[in-house]
Amino acid sequence: MANRAQFSSRIGFILAAAGSAVGLGNIWGFPTQAASNGGALFLIVYLLMVFALAYPLLVAELMIGRYGQADPMTSLRKIWPAQRALMGLVGLAGMLAVSLILSFYAIVAGWLLGYLIAPLCELVGLTQVAQWLETFGVARNLLLMLAFMWLTVMVVRSGVTNGIEKWSTRLMPVLLILFVVMVIYILTQEGAMDGLQLFLIPDPSHFSPKLIVSAMGQAFFSLSLGVCTMMVYGSYLSKSANLPKTAAQVALLDTGVAFIAGLLILPAMFVAQNNGVAIYDASGALLASDTLVFSVLPAMFESMGGVGILVSTLFFVLMVIAALTSSISMLEVPVSCTIEELGQSRHKAVWWIGCIIGVIATVIVVNFESLFGFVVTMTTAYAQPIIGLLFAILVGWIWHRDKVLAEISAGYPDVQSSLFWRIWPWYVRIVCPILMLLVFFVQ
Ligand code: ALA
Repeated sequence: MANRAQFSSRIGFILAAAGSAVGLGNIWGFPTQAASNGGALFLIVYLLMVFALAYPLLVAELMIGRYGQADPMTSLRKIWPAQRALMGLVGLAGMLAVSLILSFYAIVAGWLLGYLIAPLCELVGLTQVAQWLETFGVARNLLLMLAFMWLTVMVVRSGVTNGIEKWSTRLMPVLLILFVVMVIYILTQEGAMDGLQLFLIPDPSHFSPKLIVSAMGQAFFSLSLGVCTMMVYGSYLSKSANLPKTAAQVALLDTGVAFIAGLLILPAMFVAQNNGVAIYDASGALLASDTLVFSVLPAMFESMGGVGILVSTLFFVLMVIAALTSSISMLEVPVSCTIEELGQSRHKAVWWIGCIIGVIATVIVVNFESLFGFVVTMTTAYAQPIIGLLFAILVGWIWHRDKVLAEISAGYPDVQSSLFWRIWPWYVRIVCPILMLLVFFVQ
């Protein structure tokens, strides 16, 4: 397309891609998974998954998008023009998976909105409203989910530079600083060291094959891989960007935030336990794992006294924004396909796709017990790695090596003599697919 939007600066892209990566996966997914899967052991396997599997695939996915300079379906067809229909189907699979992810994501992000507004309602005497906002229920989940979807639609409607890049660049740094301050606070509280120990000292007895699958799914979810999100952001990236370096910065930022969130949430769980909040049942399993983070955090803010409400408000504002910088990247996938494949206006595409995802999320809200966990597992533990595997096969086996080299060289002229180029091509071709298949077989 002649006048396709582009991120206006390299830092803008890094923060937008990191904004896509950093979100509920870091603050809700990672700590919950770590707490239920042996803490430090999960952390180690997760780090291995990020660097041995997710990073090489992040480069691959960004590269397909940047090469195509188009929506994911078109970009995939450019990689394998002889199989246009098949490539369209792969793009469609990514688009469906990301839409399902967004539908459960909007529910959880809605809870964040609730916890953001509740203390403010309490402050002005609306105690019952505050309670309603913090209590799990169909009406509350529905209303908050719709509010979050509406916010997502509003940002994506503004396009790449004015919407996505502007928000990500301003808010990501503030989030990081606030996180560090909260970690310092929580570590001074009674009980925190038990959480820290669980998170940092591995206990081999916690090992299970399920842990590996969960860590792989979490790494894919956190880096927004396998669902064309990074592909569509890559398509807005200029040819002068150094892809391996940019991808490394995004992966490091995302993993750094997940690590810091672990340093915050696991100790906060034990501080809460110390203050009488039950977090494990008699068999040692995590209680209400989907919602635990949301009872532990308010307990922490309450323990802070008067300043707690200020910190809580700031924290939840930033978390809603972190979730928003991820949800907009997800909505951008079907929206870009609709704009470029069907020639629709951004405005129209954003609204009708946002509505469909809102309807899917409503079905999940109404059947929460049976559908929520199921959709989370199907999309993050299965669809993301499987579609990611297809991307690895495409880049490793189908895409001509000279074309791959030309694409990386555009922003990294001496790549041919680099360590990256000596390892990455055969790594994505052989090691990534084998590793992923192994993970699926060990289950
Ligand atoms: N990558 C996004 C997150 O971690 C989906 O929240």
